[in-house]
Amino acid sequence: MRRGEKVKDILKQGGPRSGVVLSGWVRSVRDSKQVAFVMVNDGSCLESLQVVMDAALPSHADVVKAGTGAAVRVTGDLVPSQGGGQQWELKASCIEVVGSSDPSYPLQKKRHTFEFLRTIAHLRVRSNVFGAVFRVRNAASHAIHRFFQERGFLWVHTPIITGSDCEGAGEMFQVTTLELGNPPRTEEGKIDFAQDFFARQTSLTVSGQLEAETFALAFGDVYTFGPTFRAENSNTPRHASEFWMIEPEMAFFDLQDNVALATDFIKYMTAFVLEQCGGDIDFLEQWVEKGLRARLEQVVSSQFSVMTYTEAVERLAASGEKFEYPVKWGIDLQTEHERHLTEVLVKGPVFVIDYPKDIKAFYMKVNDDGRTVAAMDLLVPRIGEIIGGSQREHRLDVLLERIRGLGLREEDYWWYLDTRRFGTCPHAGFGLGFERAVMYLTGMSNIRDVIPYPRVPGTAEF
Ligand code: 4AD
Ligand code: MG
Repeated sequence: MRRGEKVKDILKQGGPRSGVVLSGWVRSVRDSKQVAFVMVNDGSCLESLQVVMDAALPSHADVVKAGTGAAVRVTGDLVPSQGGGQQWELKASCIEVVGSSDPSYPLQKKRHTFEFLRTIAHLRVRSNVFGAVFRVRNAASHAIHRFFQERGFLWVHTPIITGSDCEGAGEMFQVTTLELGNPPRTEEGKIDFAQDFFARQTSLTVSGQLEAETFALAFGDVYTFGPTFRAENSNTPRHASEFWMIEPEMAFFDLQDNVALATDFIKYMTAFVLEQCGGDIDFLEQWVEKGLRARLEQVVSSQFSVMTYTEAVERLAASGEKFEYPVKWGIDLQTEHERHLTEVLVKGPVFVIDYPKDIKAFYMKVNDDGRTVAAMDLLVPRIGEIIGGSQREHRLDVLLERIRGLGLREEDYWWYLDTRRFGTCPHAGFGLGFERAVMYLTGMSNIRDVIPYPRVPGTAEF
């Protein structure tokens, strides 16, 4: 099938020239007596190409009838546009209706709410906003691989089905083929997972970090980029049950190195998106977040602040702000605290480091004070936590003490503990929540609108 050129390339190359072929979907048809104007979009960029169709063309009536959303293939001459709004238009010599669209097509010209568009996630990708969002998402993915590959990192594909809980928070989706109504039982009456598919209890992974650490201790610098799952019942605009995470892990690396890498990483990704998706960013600026471009440019050029958890708590307490959840040393920072810190007190991205040991995962390195760990969360305006990471506890005795103290099953982590037995070294890493990054880059305010088919509590349509 000769489907021709992409709109993006047609506009880039320009004209005038003849014999241009374009395939795409009709966004709108404006029919007047002599000519009809058909806007055709192919998803390659925000712009649709205006096709001018003479009423004398044999397929004129078919095209007009085919309706918004129809698939068409056009051949014609690219000529300077006579109307305003676009530089070039395609003067059609032939238009073929490849697939017509029923009049019930729900994406008509008026503006729809994001809530409504979520109910037609299979069609919303043909709208301008979602076109822009998913092109930005794609560019950000590309940037991430480029960033790490340019620096010699190895991309490691950590397992999706796992027998260990990385975060130790018990927020795992179980994977089983046992008969739910009548599972086999042990003598004590417990479910007998030895008879399950994997001959043990398994779940969907919450993070690839533990496996990534074993690779870092062989390859030096590695990263994961894949889906992760959390069965936390948080119905918020920032939580999804299935989301993608990027988890770099570096050997012979400490917390400071980690902060520096995460900073370079965020800046690189942001600069890449600005460069590759300029038109989409301008569109999102107009319709989604005023000031988006300036904000992103500032991310690229500004310093990120670093502050200890202790200082953050002091500054929040001294701010005079009334929080729903009072601040005091030892609490886990809530979204309201994180946002106040980054939006009001710092007015930009801020790394909070050295959190209390008791609110963080078992694998984080215990600091010399014995009560904090070498953790780092990157907080950003509008979203709060976008990155969570740490230097890892590389000392076997301290790590064992933490695992036992938290009541985790040591035997589940035997292979992880081996890394501390055989050539352990200081190492560090972090996880960037990819959807939160895309929210940050696009200005979208709900995680459901930056992932193709969102999975959140109560919803797994499509
Ligand atoms: O802070 P988290 O839980 O850290 C980890 O999983 C570590 N193992 C990462 C590491 O050090 N390698 O999650 C990391 C990031 C968060 O900062 C957040 O951006 C995102 O993942 N995240 C979520 N994104 C969407 N929905 C959820 N339910 C999320 N939970 C975490
Ligand atoms: Mg976290």
